[in-house]
Amino acid sequence: MIRLENVTVAYGSRVILEEIDLEIPTGKTMVILGESGSGKTTILKCVLGTLHPVKGRVLANGQDISTLNESDLLRFRQRMGMVFQEGALFDSLTVGENVAFWLWEHTSLSDEEVETRVRTLLRFVGLENSIDFKPSDLSGGMRRRVAIARAMAAEDPAFMLYDEPTTGLDPFTSKSICDLMRRVQREFTTTNIVVTHDLTDAYRVGDLFTFIKDAKIIATGSRQDIEHSHDPFIKTFLSLDS
Ligand SMILES: Nc1ncnc2c1ncn2[C@@H]1O[C@H](COP(=O)(O)OP(=O)(O)OP(=O)(O)O)[C@@H](O)[C@H]1O
Ligand SMILES: [Mg+2]
Repeated sequence: MIRLENVTVAYGSRVILEEIDLEIPTGKTMVILGESGSGKTTILKCVLGTLHPVKGRVLANGQDISTLNESDLLRFRQRMGMVFQEGALFDSLTVGENVAFWLWEHTSLSDEEVETRVRTLLRFVGLENSIDFKPSDLSGGMRRRVAIARAMAAEDPAFMLYDEPTTGLDPFTSKSICDLMRRVQREFTTTNIVVTHDLTDAYRVGDLFTFIKDAKIIATGSRQDIEHSHDPFIKTFLSLDS
C-alpha cells in the first residue's frame, strides 16, 4: 500500500500540492489525471522519496519513508521502479547495459547473475533479441519496454511508478505498453501509480483514478465513480476525449 497523508509540497512560496490525501491499495493501480503543471510528476517524486513534502507524510506499506535511514531508504528504493517521462535511457549504453546498470549500482550480484537477470527481464518485456542494440536503434515503444524492464530490475518489485508511459506512441503501441503494465501488476502484485493524459490508456491500466487541480485532489474513485462525477472540470476532462 502507498499512502499520502495531508501532503503539502511547495517550491519557495509556490504551493504545488496542498494537503493531499491519496491511498493506493496493494496490487492496485492508481491513475493520476490533471492538466500539465498540476503536480502529477511531483506526486511521483514524493513517493520515490526524492522530494520531501513541507507537511504531511508518505507511507509505503505502513512505513513513513521520510523517517527511513539511508540503508533502509536504499532497500525501499530497490523495490520501487520508476518509468520516467520519455523513458530516460542512457543513449551511450546498450539495451542490456541500461537494464544492468541499475543492478551494478544497487546490488552485489556477480556479472553472471546480472546477465541472467537482464535476460529474464528483457524476455519478460519481449526484447531479449535487442539486448545489444543502442536506444537510438529502437522504436519509441521498444524504448518504453526497456525503461519498464529497468524499473523492474529488483528481484521482487513491489511498487511501480509510471510517468506518462505512452505519450508519443501510436495507439497500437500504447495498448501493448498498457498490456505490459497490467502483466507486471498481475505477476508481481505491484502497487502502481500511473500518470497519463490519455483516458483510453487510463481505463486500460487503472483500477482507481484521481483528479488533481489547483494543488488539490478533486476526486478519487473507480471508473464508474468518476464517470458519474458532477464536478465541471472532470466532466469537461472526460468529454474532451470522446
Ligand atoms: N524544481 C522545481 N522548482 C520550481 N518549480 C518546480 C520544480 N519542479 C516543478 N515545478 C513546478 O511545479 C509544478 C508542477 O510540476 P509537475 O512536474 O509536477 O507537473 P505535471 O503535472 O507533471 O506536468 P506535466 O503534465 O507537464 O508533466 C509546475 O508548475 C512546475 O513548474
Ligand atoms: Mg509531469
